[in-house]
Amino acid sequence: MTPAGLAIAEEIRDRGPILFSRFMEIALYHPQHGYYRRARRDRGADPFGIHGDFYTATQLQPVFGRLIASLCEQWKSRLGARDGFRVVEWGAGRGEMAEHLQAFHYSAVDVDGGDVPPAFEGVVFCNELFDALPVDAARVRDGEARMMRVDYDSQRFAWIEGEALTGPWQAYAVNLRARIAELREEPEVWLELPIHVAPLLARMTQPLQRGFVLAIDYGYTEREIVRFPRGTLMAYRRHQALEDVLANPGEQDITAHVPFTYLEQAAQSLGLIVSPLRTLTQVLMSAGEPDQFASALQAPDEASALRLRMQLKSLLFGMGETFRCLVLEKPE
Ligand SMILES: C[S@@+](CC[C@H](N)C(=O)[O-])C[C@H]1O[C@@H](n2cnc3c(N)ncnc32)[C@H](O)[C@@H]1O
Repeated sequence: MTPAGLAIAEEIRDRGPILFSRFMEIALYHPQHGYYRRARRDRGADPFGIHGDFYTATQLQPVFGRLIASLCEQWKSRLGARDGFRVVEWGAGRGEMAEHLQAFHYSAVDVDGGDVPPAFEGVVFCNELFDALPVDAARVRDGEARMMRVDYDSQRFAWIEGEALTGPWQAYAVNLRARIAELREEPEVWLELPIHVAPLLARMTQPLQRGFVLAIDYGYTEREIVRFPRGTLMAYRRHQALEDVLANPGEQDITAHVPFTYLEQAAQSLGLIVSPLRTLTQVLMSAGEPDQFASALQAPDEASALRLRMQLKSLLFGMGETFRCLVLEKPE
């Protein structure tokens, strides 16, 4: 059993079967043994890049950083550049964007904290933050939605059915009833309940006085939920996608696709203006368009130039259609 697994098993022994959000919280963010916390102490446990478990666009540097910087520059001039323009990145991971965004008084926030200015104009940026937030899991059978809890049988973790959904999460499932009905051939439908998405978006945008939010992630709109009858929970280890999210807690990443329609509604209720969802390709094309990608691809020699062209290709054609960009505007 992994150290994070032992911590989870102990909690289940003390309190009974736990909600999946609690399982995910310990597995990913336990202060000593959580997947993302271990990486900060032990370089061998770094989840990112070729020796880790997965790549994100953030590892494709310098091209990704330069294109995001160019977008921030466009937004800065749209806002009528004032001195206080800042970029604050949430879920900054290894901090690879710092070098490219430092011209915007960049600051990085992650689970251990960070420097969030009390009030600023500028951009709130995040890449693959929302997919890493703990979610609850529910299962719909014969029209009834129930929480799924995690139990421990002295050897392994297993799902067990819990209580009926109540309150806002019952309303969330009821809202999706028409979509779920389209899946009538399925014996059961799994849903994730994105319990941290709206509170985190509120925290991220509260100090923003005027400006933009750019959230890049993979996910689905409400209509697209029918593509995922078994839900979207997934684990990643050594560049392999694994379905058993309860295995090896603390030693594999666990993610849930981002429910973009829900995120858009949360943004609207915070008074943010929501732009139509675009693909990462579309957004990076608009970032590189003004100079036809010349500055993003600038390199000192032919070998580096080739490397940068490969990065751009991966961003536009590899990740670009899978990832979506939600752009929100906070008016004055
Ligand atoms: C999948 S990683 C992405 C890291 C980086 N943005 C990238 O693209 O490589 C998700 C990151 O979000 C961080 N994170 C999770 N919950 C957070 C929260 N509530 N506030 C700030 N960061 C958080 C994790 O610690 C982790 O570093």
